[in-house]
Amino acid sequence: MYLIRKYAVDTSSASNLLDWFKPYEDFAYRKVGSLQTLKGKSHISKAIMAKSDSPYSQDLIDKMVLLIKEELHHFYQVLEIMQARDIAYEPIPASRYAKGLISHMTTHEPQTLIDKLIIGAYIEARSCERFAKLAPHMDEDIAKFYISLLRSEARHYQDYLALAEAIAGHNIDERIAYFGRLEADLISSPDSDFKFHSGIPA
Ligand SMILES: [Fe+2]
Repeated sequence: MYLIRKYAVDTSSASNLLDWFKPYEDFAYRKVGSLQTLKGKSHISKAIMAKSDSPYSQDLIDKMVLLIKEELHHFYQVLEIMQARDIAYEPIPASRYAKGLISHMTTHEPQTLIDKLIIGAYIEARSCERFAKLAPHMDEDIAKFYISLLRSEARHYQDYLALAEAIAGHNIDERIAYFGRLEADLISSPDSDFKFHSGIPA
């Protein structure tokens, strides 16, 4: 959402995106609303258009809008499962993982955007791997859900990489490997905060 708002869309599309996200933000950050207020809200009816001077294509926007839609739907599905299991929704602070990767981004465009997309790809791919590892240990309904999630994550990471390569206009293997080394360190070094993307429990 942040990426396409910052880089790609026109002003009215930017505000449409904010409107789309509002009920989720209200719920997640302000504890306003419920499962009911989010029902059916993962779809966006308005067209999201590229700004006229944007060097990034409508393809970036279309891919990301689809990705956002899926992630919002997943959020809703998680809430449904939590409600069925009587688990309260409590916001939790982010782990060091994404921050650890983001702190190594370059500060000049378009490399910053390319780095962000590569980082996005790692987050998705690592999620995919972790859902696959966890699924066999879960109740049947959760295992099925995790497998449906990991299928999305597998598509998402490939979308991020394809976009990064298209925007770079050249091979980005070296940059992918650079973030791969940072990522490997974040997941394999001791971490006092135990979360989905944390390192080895300290
Ligand atoms: Fe994803």
